[in-house]
Amino acid sequence: MFTTDKECALALDAADPLRKIREHFLIPPRYADVRTSKVGAYLGGTNPEDDEKQVYFLGNSLGLQPKVTRGHIDRVLEQWAHYGVEGFFHGRDPWMNYHDQLIQPLSKIVGALPHEVSVMNQLTVNLHLMLASFYQPSGKKRKILCEQKAFPSDQYTLETYVKHLGMEPEDVILEVAPRAGEVTIRLEDIIDTIEQHRDEIALVFWGGINYYTGQLFDMASITAAAHTHGIKVGFDLAHAAGNVELELHEWDVDFACWCSYKYLNSGPGAVGGVYIHERFHQDQTLYRLAGWWGYDKSTRFQMKKGFKPIPSAEGWQLSTPSMILYACHAAALEVFEEAGWQNILEKQKKLNAYLWYLLNELNNAQPEQVIQVLTPAQERGSQVSLFMLKDGKKIFDSLMEQGIIVDWREPNVIRLAPVPLYNTFADVWKFYEAIKKML
Ligand SMILES: Cc1ncc(COP(=O)(O)O)c(C=O)c1O
Repeated sequence: MFTTDKECALALDAADPLRKIREHFLIPPRYADVRTSKVGAYLGGTNPEDDEKQVYFLGNSLGLQPKVTRGHIDRVLEQWAHYGVEGFFHGRDPWMNYHDQLIQPLSKIVGALPHEVSVMNQLTVNLHLMLASFYQPSGKKRKILCEQKAFPSDQYTLETYVKHLGMEPEDVILEVAPRAGEVTIRLEDIIDTIEQHRDEIALVFWGGINYYTGQLFDMASITAAAHTHGIKVGFDLAHAAGNVELELHEWDVDFACWCSYKYLNSGPGAVGGVYIHERFHQDQTLYRLAGWWGYDKSTRFQMKKGFKPIPSAEGWQLSTPSMILYACHAAALEVFEEAGWQNILEKQKKLNAYLWYLLNELNNAQPEQVIQVLTPAQERGSQVSLFMLKDGKKIFDSLMEQGIIVDWREPNVIRLAPVPLYNTFADVWKFYEAIKKML
């Protein structure tokens, strides 16, 4: 189905039903790459011609800006200027109800019922809040099972949360590692560990996709294995939300948290999201750390003593949300709606398969392997992590200079994520061609 010539990439782009969606994004100009000395040299504004644009492969780090974002922010500013505090109740999008327009499109993306989704805070804050509700150690059941080398913020969250409860992390945190000589974690090892420690584990807390290797975990099987033993399960979906198909409700996941600045394109420091299965919404046995924004909406302004939560995931909100951040999120979700989530998923798979094919061709054309793909072939989303066996840093620097934006992780890893909303098959081909020339 694929070939290595440019015509193949161009034909794939021509047949791509989402090709027009790329035009909804501001793709940075090539010379805006801060790592080269050419910063500021480009004078063509923020919407250059196509061959002057970066080949931007870091949607796994910070997604690009939709053109409609500015308009959505402006609307909030206008409403503020026009109505002051009354903007909460008046204007085109009264701020009291703004949340409602976010949860509809978002719940499709994460596979949840709309009332199981809440848009609030940032990811690490939400992880702490979820631990308060879902990690309730008792008796022998005190351990948290997690992946070795989870994203540092997750590690710090677990370490400090456990200490705050008066326990020692090394007594409580149980990690599953890759086997010797392997880089990714086998599902069977996760399930075996759950079985072996079933009487001690209180919570399984896992990343949906590992930030370093790009490994996509089988969340349905992990959840089922834990639930067999009455263990609760939560996922960090920073690298999964907006990237791969999720069926959180169907899989019966207890809770999940994500950020929206990566694949969800909602801007640097964007507002985070939380999923909480509906069975917990009125569960009085769960502890919570609460604030007035999670209080029952109809009586919130009576300012009464005693916390009475909204009977949905919104009941976990604490503070008045930022309407500017909501506006950025709404704008990005509008683009997802226009593109259609199933179309996005289809293109994601095709784009990634094409990259995978070209990587194989690069290796096949060399007398010995030059690139070891760390990401497992059967468990992956958009991100591919490449362990460079030859000239890694040189290749990385050269890619960046050519405006092909990827990232570097020590000791020798290039990570990239072609994303369906704004990357093209021609982008992927340019990456292949640039590496081929260097080799
Ligand atoms: C897997 C994962 N978890 C947590 C975080 C931290 O997110 P935040 O800074 O929004 O709290 C990140 C950030 O990139 C991440 O990739």
